[in-house]
Amino acid sequence: MDVTVSADSIATHTTEVLIVGLYRQAELEGVAQAIDKALGGAISDLLASGDFSGKTKQVAVLYPRAALPAQRVLLVGLGNSDDYGPETARRAAATAVRKAQTLKAQHLTIVLAGGPTVGDDARAMAEGCSLAAYHYQGQRNKPADPMPETLTLLVASEDERAAAAQGAATGQAIAAGVQVTRDLVNLPPNICTPAYMARIAAKVAQAAALKIEVLEREQMAALEMGALLAVARGSETPPRFIVLEHNAARAAELDTLVLVGKGVTFDTGGYSIKSQSGMNTMKGDMAGAAAVIGAMRVIGTLDVPLHVVGLAPTADNMISGKAYRPQEVITASNGVTIEINSTDAEGRMLLADALVYAGRYTPAAVVDIATLTGACMVALGAQAAGLFGTDDRLRDLLRAAGDANQERVWPLPLYDEYKQAMESQTADIRNSSSNRMAGVGTSAIFLKHFVDYPVWAHLDMAGMESEAAYAKEIPYVPDKGASGYGVRLLAEFAQRWAAQDS
Ligand code: BES
Ligand code: ZN
Ligand code: ZN
Repeated sequence: MDVTVSADSIATHTTEVLIVGLYRQAELEGVAQAIDKALGGAISDLLASGDFSGKTKQVAVLYPRAALPAQRVLLVGLGNSDDYGPETARRAAATAVRKAQTLKAQHLTIVLAGGPTVGDDARAMAEGCSLAAYHYQGQRNKPADPMPETLTLLVASEDERAAAAQGAATGQAIAAGVQVTRDLVNLPPNICTPAYMARIAAKVAQAAALKIEVLEREQMAALEMGALLAVARGSETPPRFIVLEHNAARAAELDTLVLVGKGVTFDTGGYSIKSQSGMNTMKGDMAGAAAVIGAMRVIGTLDVPLHVVGLAPTADNMISGKAYRPQEVITASNGVTIEINSTDAEGRMLLADALVYAGRYTPAAVVDIATLTGACMVALGAQAAGLFGTDDRLRDLLRAAGDANQERVWPLPLYDEYKQAMESQTADIRNSSSNRMAGVGTSAIFLKHFVDYPVWAHLDMAGMESEAAYAKEIPYVPDKGASGYGVRLLAEFAQRWAAQDS
């Protein structure tokens, strides 16, 4: 969505839809009052009738006819003024976009309230609108209804223009990252292969001025990434190890964050094959990698003052004469040997070699994100990703970043005792637990064998692209298909890391 700022007066501003937010039970003031006056008291009448009270999710459309150049005035509820914040603004903006879309309007204007929060408001409105204007056409031949295309943010005076424009640019950058991720997660596995993901990552690198390197099988073999290559062995579709880097040239002077995402482009389970229903959602098993690629787009565009590396190990988990089998013993790139008990515990194999690779940057912090276990989905549903970590400050920052963006994470314990269930008679560790207990905890303990830096967190987002996640009724998240979970969480986390006193 194209977002611009204007200081037009409503008396001269032309638009298909003029969007005005109203608090619950508030006196009309400012622009709302001016519009009411121009419309001969139509807003006052609407409020008096009780048909519109300013509650969240409420909308009402008025037709100014000749009274204003705007074709329609769309009122949207902001709820109680005490509860107002960026999330209210994002939701209200998205609710308005959804309504505008049913009206087939493509050019929208939002009246900003003004004052000290104008930059934050502009950011939240641009973000909410752009996120809500997302549409995945897929391979459907039938053309979709047009989506809103342009958004004008109306400020009260020229003094507010710069702050609003900066906020709008931030909101747009965030939405652009989320869009990349949603597209990747939505695409079918015959299109979204590891090589395809690498091509999209290259586009992202171009758009956000990032450095990119893509390792192919031979280079991974040279690095002895046995765990990743074991998973990739069964597929005709070759793996890719994608490395995106922001501020590569300033690595020595800046803190380094490494983000790692699981990129299983399709998870059949391998010889430990999944059930039909279990397999039917597994095109989304690369959502962690997609979130990292999307977050890197945001981090690069916003030029976060950190050295940030995004790692996306990507591979298919398939069955063939070459596929890895239960009881094989595999050596990862740090020399740790792994007995395979389940070829369906493949994500941790990819992450193992990627977490080892992360160590080469002597990172200040490493965060991995993965659709790793059904157990985490059972535990937390679609309400939060599981959060494991070795450092309190990192955990707190991730929680705060998630809470601020409706992309929550919730702490789970990394007990040493879980190690017992991962002991093997034939290798250093096994890749899946010997019992049914705490499948989410034992997976995190597995990953810890590949971490040799002090500050690390693991996010299990298995529930976040499930059917339940699509029913959350957040107006800026699509009702069906990928949510793009993780992009706003990771981008906000990086910004907060950069802002903290160290
Ligand atoms: N990709 C799955 C986890 C998953 C399940 C994600 C459902 C989203 C929805 C993962 O590779 C897997 O199969 N995990 C196994 C681990 C087990 C074999 C230790 C699981 O959760 O059953
Ligand atoms: Zn699996
Ligand atoms: Zn998987």
